[in-house]
Amino acid sequence: MRSIALITGVTGQDGSYLSEFLLSKGYEVHGIIRRSSVDYRERIAHLEGQPHFHLHYADMGDSMSLVKLVGKVQPTEIYNLAAQSHVQVSFDAPEFTADVDAVGVLRILEAVRTNHLEKTCKIYQASTSELYGKVEEVPQNEKTPFHPYSPYAVAKLYGFWIIKEYREAYDMFCCSGILFNHESERRGETFVTRKITLAAARIAQGKQDCLYLGNLDSLRDWGYAKDYVECMWLILQQDKPDDFVIATGVQHTVREFATLAFHYAGIELRWEGEGINEKGINVATGKVVVAVSEDFYRPTDVVNLWGDPTKARTQLGWNPQTTTFEQLVQIMVQHDMQKVAADHVASVMRTNLAEYLEKGVVK
Ligand code: NAP
Ligand code: GDD
Repeated sequence: MRSIALITGVTGQDGSYLSEFLLSKGYEVHGIIRRSSVDYRERIAHLEGQPHFHLHYADMGDSMSLVKLVGKVQPTEIYNLAAQSHVQVSFDAPEFTADVDAVGVLRILEAVRTNHLEKTCKIYQASTSELYGKVEEVPQNEKTPFHPYSPYAVAKLYGFWIIKEYREAYDMFCCSGILFNHESERRGETFVTRKITLAAARIAQGKQDCLYLGNLDSLRDWGYAKDYVECMWLILQQDKPDDFVIATGVQHTVREFATLAFHYAGIELRWEGEGINEKGINVATGKVVVAVSEDFYRPTDVVNLWGDPTKARTQLGWNPQTTTFEQLVQIMVQHDMQKVAADHVASVMRTNLAEYLEKGVVK
């Protein structure tokens, strides 16, 4: 008998890596997708058509769709990864964020109860280091008090507590992974790391002049998404449901990330100025390639995330340093250098083809 996993957020960064991981373990994997007018299934396109990988339309805002789907799939494990996951966007769309990131968790739990699967279906909730927000201690572990500091974090706090509540009230196997930032070559392009690696590649190849960022002093504990999905699975394989901090235990600033990313793209940076006037200068050319823009400042910003992964290391047997910070940045830059070059070739070919068509050279 194959284990059956249902993944919400399957089209996202983590959903795509988790799907690959579970398929490699012999799972039957079902994922929830939403209707969209554009193609957003790039990250899982290579899995579509595999015999044990199935996609279904549903939405975290639509209880009936979730109840029906859970009844149809009869999952043994649910990974609830779906979320409006961008912190800055949560200030612009706080109600939508609360509906998906907070009430959405409740909808999943109730879909499991409605289908009487509470004794057979384990649930993983994608919780977040953003719960620590305006941090009360460093590094942060499972006992550190929460102080959410954005509409996103407040919504995720509800998700964390409702998972805990259903665990205690109904004896359900519900767990939260309190994951610190994890990145990859599949990271959304508006998160700071991917924004930097893509811009470094474009600037190195003469496709962009300058990268505009917000708070360069912000500190994050950045890991590799591919390593982190294994923890989601390990958390559900424990004898008892529990919550775990997943982090590398190493902290860097946004400025340090940018310096290293530009280095791997072949540009050495020198930093000058302070605050809004700070600039990253290309040492070889003297040109400003990084500048600060207030557009990327947040009304409240979380500036000191640093995780203590001791519990995950000792209880789950997980190695937080599988991929180092330097390796992560290098993987992302290498990928984006190739992507920018390939996009350039594709655009030259499109231009040539358009010219040939116009001249009647090809039909
Ligand atoms: P992501 O790339 O932004 O993916 C989010 C996923 O949620 C996408 O598949 C998206 O679908 C789906 N989704 C959003 N609204 C939905 C709705 N109403 N109904 C159904 N699906 C919906 O995020 P990620 O980086 O993979 O993160 C996965 C989860 O971990 C999220 O819950 C995030 O908050 C949490 N988390 C992430 C990190 C991190 O550093 N990456 C750290 C801690 C916690 P579409 O493709 O259709 O938009
Ligand atoms: N996005 C972005 N864009 N962030 C910037 C920029 C910029 O131009 N400039 C500076 N930053 C700073 C932000 O202010 C923040 O302090 C830090 O870089 C990281 O921002 P993001 O990469 O957007 O990630 P995040 O930490 O806010 O949220 C991510 O990690 C959380 C876990 O801690 C998301 O993946 C969340 O879903 C996740 O819960």
